[in-house]
Amino acid sequence: MMFPEAFVRMGVKPTRGILLYGPPGCAKTTLVKAAASSCRCSFLSVSGADLFSPFVGDSEKALAQVFRQARAAAPSILFLDEIDSMLGSRSLDATSGRSVHERVLSVLLNEMDGIGRSVTERRGSGQKTLECEGEQSEGQTKKLEFQEVCNKDVIVVAATNRPDLLDDALLRPGRFDQIIFVPTPDKEARLSILRICTSKTPLDDVSLEELAAETVGFTGADLQNLCKEAALLALQENGLDAAAVNHRHFLKSLQSVKPSLSQQQMEFYQNLFSTNDLS
Ligand SMILES: Nc1ncnc2c1ncn2[C@@H]1O[C@H](COP(=O)(O)OP(=O)(O)OP(=O)(O)O)[C@@H](O)[C@H]1O
Ligand SMILES: [Mg+2]
Repeated sequence: MMFPEAFVRMGVKPTRGILLYGPPGCAKTTLVKAAASSCRCSFLSVSGADLFSPFVGDSEKALAQVFRQARAAAPSILFLDEIDSMLGSRSLDATSGRSVHERVLSVLLNEMDGIGRSVTERRGSGQKTLECEGEQSEGQTKKLEFQEVCNKDVIVVAATNRPDLLDDALLRPGRFDQIIFVPTPDKEARLSILRICTSKTPLDDVSLEELAAETVGFTGADLQNLCKEAALLALQENGLDAAAVNHRHFLKSLQSVKPSLSQQQMEFYQNLFSTNDLS
């Protein structure tokens, strides 16, 4: 998005969809939020909870509406968090008939293919475009349609910890064609996370380097929990006016705070998409 001229020079279309996947608590959501606050474009975020409604057709309408807003505000990033909870896989849902997940999936596939094209163009010029009109006035709709045609800079970023549940059609080139693995942090990353999590905590003789070495397999969320536990322990032991957290508090917390991922789970994530992992 920052270097569109490079794509024009190379004659390639910029990426439209990016899928972040990895174990829970490894900063997928945090990463996208950080990217959103540091880039100079509009940011829209949707999760499964925003889409679901007891009324038939409402979820699809809501998703189409979000895409429409993203196009109107382009250049923009549209973030679909926990995308596995929003959509099903057509092959997995085959037994349960046409579920709401499947209908939302088909809207998403259409919208991703149709980015930058007008509503009437996407749905056939003779058809009415009732689905995503909502309660907007006709004038407003015309204006939005015009903006849709003009603005093509919408990047869809999705995050999931169950990429194996997603429909293959979503992952084909042209849709989510950049698939990025967000792994559990290595020793250096764990040290940085510990530094961030303890930046406001008074520490007394704590070796964060040592803790980083001892927390193999911990996710960012686990490390955050470890720091919180150590601080609570210090308060418990030394009273509410405890001066600082020391290394012993961390070691004691390590007995109760365990990594949330087993070796087997880590291997599961590492082996997914091993052929097209871009990380
Ligand atoms: N690298 C990191 N640096 C700082 N904080 C982190 C890091 N990784 C995780 N955290 C902390 O862990 C918590 C969980 O992170 P986040 O919600 O981004 O994980 P996630 O990958 O989206 O998990 P899920 O798949 O369950 O949605 C956040 O509160 C975040 O502050
Ligand atoms: Mg998340």
